Amino acid sequence: MAFLLITFLLCSSSLYLLFLLRNSQFSRRKLGLPPGNLGLPFIGETLQLISAYKTENPEPFIDARVTRFGNLFTTHVFGEPTVFSADSEANRFILQNEGKLFECSYPSSISNLLGKHSLLLMKGNLHKRMHSLTMSFANSTIIRENLFVDIDRLVRLNLDSWTGRVFLQDEAKKITFELTVKQLMSFDPGEWTESLRKEYLLLIDGFFTLPLPFFFTTYGRAIKARTKVAEALGMIVRKRRKEIVEGDEGKKKDMLGALLEGDGGFSDEEIVDFLLALLVAGYETTSTIMTLAVKFLTETPLALAQLKEEHDEIRARKQDSETLEWSDYKSMPFTQCVVNETLRVANIISGVFRRAMTDVNLKGYTIPKGWKNNVGATASPGNLFSPFGGGPRLCPGYELARVEISVFLHHLLTRLSWVPAEEDKLVFFPTTRTLKRYPINVQRRIKSLSHR
Ligand code: HEM
Ligand SMILES: *[C@@H]1O[C@H](CO)[C@@H](O)[C@H](O)[C@H]1NC(C)=O
Ligand SMILES: *[C@@H]1O[C@H](CO)[C@@H](O)[C@H](O)[C@H]1NC(C)=O
Repeated sequence: MAFLLITFLLCSSSLYLLFLLRNSQFSRRKLGLPPGNLGLPFIGETLQLISAYKTENPEPFIDARVTRFGNLFTTHVFGEPTVFSADSEANRFILQNEGKLFECSYPSSISNLLGKHSLLLMKGNLHKRMHSLTMSFANSTIIRENLFVDIDRLVRLNLDSWTGRVFLQDEAKKITFELTVKQLMSFDPGEWTESLRKEYLLLIDGFFTLPLPFFFTTYGRAIKARTKVAEALGMIVRKRRKEIVEGDEGKKKDMLGALLEGDGGFSDEEIVDFLLALLVAGYETTSTIMTLAVKFLTETPLALAQLKEEHDEIRARKQDSETLEWSDYKSMPFTQCVVNETLRVANIISGVFRRAMTDVNLKGYTIPKGWKNNVGATASPGNLFSPFGGGPRLCPGYELARVEISVFLHHLLTRLSWVPAEEDKLVFFPTTRTLKRYPINVQRRIKSLSHR
C-alpha cells in the first residue's frame, strides 16, 4: 500500500471526535456518516488494517468492510477518523475537488524528508503551475523527442552488465534512479550517481518507519541522508546557474533547466526540494512494477510467451540495430496489457489520502471538516482502477513510467532468459514488494535474430 498509507501511521492523533462517536450508531447517524466501525479507543482499527496488509491478499481490510457496509465506510486508523471510498463516482468527486473541498495532507515527519517545496506538498496556485510544468516535462512529446534515447541507452547499459545471479528489485531500482537523475539534471551514471544513490536509499527508508528523531534510528539516519542528498543536489544547481550566467554549455533541456530558466525565480532551496521529491515519487513505484511484471510473467508462461513473440518481432524488424525507437514503443499492444495488469495486481498505491476542508456532502453522507479520506485506487465491483490517481494531482509521471517499464521489458526479454533463483513471496506491508528482492539467474539469449 506504499508510503501514502504509512504517512498515516505518523499522523498526529485527533481523538476528540473519537470519544464523541465511539461505536455510537446513534451519533453516527445523526452526523450522517457512512456506516462503519471506529474500533478500539486510540488505536481504532489500525491493527486490523496492518495485519490485513501482512497477508498475501492486497485488500482484505477494505474488501471485508465493503462487503459489510458498502462502498463508503467509516473507520479509525493511524490516529484519525477516516472515510474509505471504493466508489468510482465518489472518488472522482474527491480528486476533482482538490483544493476546493479536499486537500492532500502529510504529517510533518514526511514533509521533513520531502522538503516543503516539493510538488506533493504544494497547494493552491503554485501547485497548479508546478504540476503543469512537471506534466509538460514528462509528456509524450518530450519523452519522444528528448528522453527516449537515454531511457533506451541506460536500460541496455544496465542489462548488458548482468551475469549469473541478480536481485531484480535492486537492479530495477538502480535503473530507475539513473534514469531519473539523467532526466532531471542530465547526469550520466557514474561514481557520483552511485554515491548519491547510497544516501538516497537511507533517505527512502525514512518514509517507512516511525519518526523518532535520534541519530541512531532509521528516521534519524534518513534525515541526515536528506541533508547530504540536498547538499549534493545544491552543488549541481549552483554549478548550472553559473554555467547559464557564463553562457557556456548553456541550456540543457532537462527539468533543472526548466526550473532555472522559467519565470519562477526559484531559490536553490526550492529547486533542490522539488528535484528531490521527483526522485522519490518515481523511484519505488516504477522499479517495483518492473520487478513484479517479471515475477508475474515468470509465473504465467503463456503470457510470457506471447510477450516474447511481440518483442522478438520488433527485434526482427530492426535487423542489426540495437536501439529501440518511439515508434517501436508504440507498437507494443500486449506489453501495455502486461503493464496494466501488473499495476492492477501489484496495487502499489492502493489509495491516496485527502482531508475534508469543510463539511462535505458525499452521496447522501456527510464527511465532517478535518476528517481524512482514503480514495481507493484498487479495482473492485464499485471502483474503476486508477493506479495514477486523478484530478489536479494526477501523477505527472504516468506516461514516463509506462515507457520505462516497456523499454525495460523489451531489452530484458530479447537479451536474457531467466529462472527464479529462489522461491520469493509478494507482500503488501509496509510497501508492496517481494520479500527476497526477487533473485533470478540470468543467461544471455542466443542472438539468432540479429545475425545475418
Ligand atoms: C508505476 C509508477 C507510478 C505510479 C503507480 C504512480 C502513482 C502515483 C499516484 C497514485 C499519485 C497521486 C498521489 C495523490 O493524489 O496524492 C502520484 C503522484 C505523483 N507522481 Fe507518480 N506514480 C508512478 C511513477 C511516477 C514517476 C516516474 C514520476 C516522475 C516524474 C512520478 C511523479 C509523481 C509526482 C511528482 C506526484 C505528485 C503530484 C502532485 O501532488 O501534484 N510518479 N503518482
Ligand atoms: C508537451 O509539453 C511541451 C512543452 O514542454 C508542449 O510544447 C507540447 O505541446 C506538449 N505535448 C503534449 C502532447 O501535451
Ligand atoms: C491501460 O490502462 C489505461 C488506464 O490506466 C487505459 O487508458 C489503457 O487503455 C489501458 N491499456 C490497455 C492496453 O489495456
